[in-house]
Amino acid sequence: MDDAKWVAVDRYVEQTLLGDDAVLRAALADGVAAGLPQIQVMPAHGKMLMLLARACGARRILEVGTLGGYSTIWLARGLAAGGSLVTLEVEPNHAAVALRNLERAGFGGGVVEVIVGRAIDTLPKLTGPFDLIFLDADKAGYADYFEWAMRLSRPGTLIIADNVVRKGAVVDAQGEDPNVQGVRRFLEKVRVEPRIEATVVQTVGSKGYDGMMIGVVR
Ligand code: SAH
Ligand code: DHB
Ligand code: MG
Repeated sequence: MDDAKWVAVDRYVEQTLLGDDAVLRAALADGVAAGLPQIQVMPAHGKMLMLLARACGARRILEVGTLGGYSTIWLARGLAAGGSLVTLEVEPNHAAVALRNLERAGFGGGVVEVIVGRAIDTLPKLTGPFDLIFLDADKAGYADYFEWAMRLSRPGTLIIADNVVRKGAVVDAQGEDPNVQGVRRFLEKVRVEPRIEATVVQTVGSKGYDGMMIGVVR
């Protein structure tokens, strides 16, 4: 198995089960035009986030790390009727792109709130509980964001964290990459937290080899 095959299968899954979506295509194009890094979740993972939100009947979703709002749109599509989503983003220009994309996706008008600032400063201003929390901002902050996620959760809350495998680098305890160290500090916190049951799912595809942590609060 090689990257070319992973990409081919991603495209196949996109064509067979996801289809073409003008709103998401425009969101990606706007991100490119605005010079945003192209690091959003893959389409198949975006849809997985939507399905997980729907499966747990999420009425309140929290996202940490908005970028151009691509994963935000998928998550918001998984909200139960009348639900709402809060997403945190440090870069004002990312948030501005996201607001436009969310508006076009039909999530203006208060369904989605984009809060600009460092997540470590904005998380303390939120009121829980959330039904689903998606961590996807700076990996160095994951351990702190996880503490807040636990505070802002209830029994049954689904907590998902992106990019916890990093081409397998996560197993390198001696590695100096601050992203990897951040992920390892985070997973150590998950390990010793008695109020969550969690796993890591490894993934391959058009974004290479990575993985997501998925946990449910007891
Ligand atoms: N969830 C998005 C991708 C997020 S990329 C998607 O899949 O579509 C990570 C984002 O986190 C970037 O936009 C970056 O600016 C933001 N970020 C980085 N550090 C942050 C911080 N300290 N607080 C809030 N957001 C942060
Ligand atoms: C990268 C990918 C991500 O999904 C993310 O949230 C941050 C960074 C990356 O590939 O560098
Ligand atoms: Mg990510």
